[in-house]
Amino acid sequence: MNIRVYYHTASIDDLALRDSNVVVIDVLRATTTIVHAMAAGAREIIPVGSADQAMRIAGSLFSTTSLICGERGGYPIAGGKLGNSPTEYTPEIVEGKSLILMTTNGAPTLVKAKHSRHCFIAAFTNISAVALAIKALPHIHEQGLAILCSGREGDFSLEDALCAGLLIERLAAIGLEINLSDTVRVALSLWKEYQGDLTGAMKASDHGKYLISIGYEKDIDVCAAIDTIPIVPILEQTRITKKIVLD
Ligand code: MLT
Repeated sequence: MNIRVYYHTASIDDLALRDSNVVVIDVLRATTTIVHAMAAGAREIIPVGSADQAMRIAGSLFSTTSLICGERGGYPIAGGKLGNSPTEYTPEIVEGKSLILMTTNGAPTLVKAKHSRHCFIAAFTNISAVALAIKALPHIHEQGLAILCSGREGDFSLEDALCAGLLIERLAAIGLEINLSDTVRVALSLWKEYQGDLTGAMKASDHGKYLISIGYEKDIDVCAAIDTIPIVPILEQTRITKKIVLD
């Protein structure tokens, strides 16, 4: 099976992923937050690229059932209900709600994946569940997989590459035969190098250091937890409405 790992999304346009099987990763913190929000019972999540778009979509939904959420520069967006810390997304706040999620890197990556055939949302918290969901896709061997690391402002980020490496390792462990392309080898090597101290590696990464500097160190511990939430959120066109729930 062919896997291509994209280490940032700067060169990907909306149509490049048309009809592809895609996994989107933004470990710190957008995809971890999405996993938490869907596990807490959010009805749907609509990723958006700009505050204007968020306001326009919010205006077209019932204000009692929709919440604007997310971050700019790591801080909660002005006028939003929630920031981008995964633990803010509790059932008391998000159950049954439509969340309009604006983030710096993760949400725009999801927007780029809107024409994909299947699009799963991955973080360390749900990585084994994502591997099982990929294995269950019909024709995955022939069609292959694109792993999109959201990166950081158009550039590489270590934590997303590590998550891609663990995903590939899990796929191999459940029996998928993976061709060792260059982008796959890099992800696997990085994961092998840092797996002994994932939290430490994430705290020492560029975005980890930034989050610590603005007071969000605890989020990194939450985002570094492996397999704590066995669900797989699914993006269909512009919305995340479904999830696969594993036992
Ligand atoms: C993003 O999408 O860039 C992020 O998730 C940034 C963050 O909130 O840490």
